[in-house]
Amino acid sequence: MEKEDRYLPVAIAAAREAGRIQMLHFGHSHQIEYKAEFNPVTLVDKLCEEAIIQEISHTFPDHDILTEESSFQSKGSPWKWIIDPLDGTTNYLHGFPFFSVSIALEIEGEMRVGVVYYPSLNELFYAENGEGAFLNGNRISVSSIGDLNRSLLCTGFPYDVRKETDLYLSYFRQFLTRSFAIRRPGSAAIDLCYLAAGRFDGFWELKLHPWDVAAGSLIITEAGGKVTDFQGRPFNVYSEEILASNGLIHQAMLQAIREIALKGGDEIT
Ligand code: IPD
Ligand code: CA
Ligand code: CA
Repeated sequence: MEKEDRYLPVAIAAAREAGRIQMLHFGHSHQIEYKAEFNPVTLVDKLCEEAIIQEISHTFPDHDILTEESSFQSKGSPWKWIIDPLDGTTNYLHGFPFFSVSIALEIEGEMRVGVVYYPSLNELFYAENGEGAFLNGNRISVSSIGDLNRSLLCTGFPYDVRKETDLYLSYFRQFLTRSFAIRRPGSAAIDLCYLAAGRFDGFWELKLHPWDVAAGSLIITEAGGKVTDFQGRPFNVYSEEILASNGLIHQAMLQAIREIALKGGDEIT
């Protein structure tokens, strides 16, 4: 197998192994550390991270790695693996079975492979640039709902929600009265894949990190959806805003965001 044919299989093998570790320890009590007051990390996050890195660096020892729980010195490689070993740690700790593992490969600044594994339902989402998006081997595509009023939206709140409560609620309030309903499941990686699979029609969130969104944003675009910042500019995984949709309601979502600023939310730029 050529090296580039191994990117996706290696990412899938690593994601499945992390999912296996998550399920093995799920429902047990966990020792928790706090990276910030409301930002938990457990031994399971770290065990998953170790397993993923071992799998990837065994096959691609000279690639760079950007992962949530450890820092690695850059090797200056054009290949960069972007990893969230356990997305949805708060859910995991509470025995709420909505959590995942997210692995993406960026090559020369372009997202090329994305894998999100949701082990509780054995749902494996993946995409390669230009090849479409898949769930357990079946092609997926975004929904065809074109009316924001009829749309099911999804979001999440960053860990500094107590500091920026009004800002985050201004978006929530706006979309609550513009959409059919909103969900806040607690794993951004799965949220994005659900959008890719047509289960949500739109998603927004602030202050996510590259590991939360790298795989999911590729899976959405490969499923025919659209991902931008809050001004409608092309999405960049290193930026702090993500607006994703089936494409059809994107303008209406952007307009709703513009209206928040017009209403005098001077905290919104
Ligand atoms: C969190 C989840 C959550 C989102 C938070 C993220 P973590 O990731 O994706 O849905 O709302 O902003 O930090 O900490 O569980 O990996
Ligand atoms: Ca995360
Ligand atoms: Ca995480």
